[in-house]
Amino acid sequence: MKIYIFFNGDFYPEKTPLLSILDRGLCFGDGLFELIRCIKGRFLLFSKHIKRMRDSATFLEIPFPYGENELLNAAKELTRRNKIKDGELYIEITRGEAPRYHQFPKKTEPNFFLVLNPLREMPEECWARGVKVITFPDIRWGYCHLKTINLLPNVLAKEMAKNSNAYEAFFTREDKKGTYLTEGSSSSIFAIKNGFLMTSELDNILPGTTRAAVIEIAMKRKISVKETRLYLKEFIESDEAFLTSTVSEVMPVIKINDRLIASGMIGDLTLKLQSEYKKFIKEHLEW
Ligand code: PDD
Repeated sequence: MKIYIFFNGDFYPEKTPLLSILDRGLCFGDGLFELIRCIKGRFLLFSKHIKRMRDSATFLEIPFPYGENELLNAAKELTRRNKIKDGELYIEITRGEAPRYHQFPKKTEPNFFLVLNPLREMPEECWARGVKVITFPDIRWGYCHLKTINLLPNVLAKEMAKNSNAYEAFFTREDKKGTYLTEGSSSSIFAIKNGFLMTSELDNILPGTTRAAVIEIAMKRKISVKETRLYLKEFIESDEAFLTSTVSEVMPVIKINDRLIASGMIGDLTLKLQSEYKKFIKEHLEW
């Protein structure tokens, strides 16, 4: 079966050579991306993802060429053409093609593409039993709130996780009080202590859509939420821990490096948020 992608307004078979080697995304990582879940042919939190991308494009002065409805129609067309009902919609925008000088070119059209892949396979037991994570120094830059395509530190961190038989790598930074966790290589971090739900404050991390959803769910359930600096020592001593992302949803974490969290048991609040998030998904699918 032919797989189609959307590129600058048209649909093409996926291997069609479309992008110039002078594209600034290729040369400089001068671009942004989003990853959106497609569930039963509909898209989870579509408008939130597009808003995050549009805001970041504005920040980077990359013109954003499409309206939300046009993009939703293109995404729907991909589900139809590729016969994918449950998948991952990858969206990328780059500043476009120009001779390779660092400064912004005077005139370029951005390149914009959508790729719809089937949902990656992950064993159900990850959600049922919890996963191990490792720590990795946060060697990234100061604009981590932007979902840029500069992902080499994230790639290195995830590779290290894979080589350590871990599911994810949590980035760490240092301050006077010690080592703290910022976010995962592709996820946000949560811990629970004495009934408080804690998550890393929005200080040079990506404002995760799943993170925001979990906070919203918790607040509706009258669970106290603290956005705070999450120290590794406190994380290890927490009663429960989990990570969140578009793909991982609410994923319990039972081990960090060689330290078990709560003796490796998944907590009740994590399980509750896991099932509440499933309900949230059903209510937030967009056509
Ligand atoms: N990554 N932090 C980072 C660095 C991320 O890359 C992601 C998502 C998240 C979670 O964001 P959200 O809940 O909106 O998915 C946090 C996607 C899934 C990826 O890189 O594939």
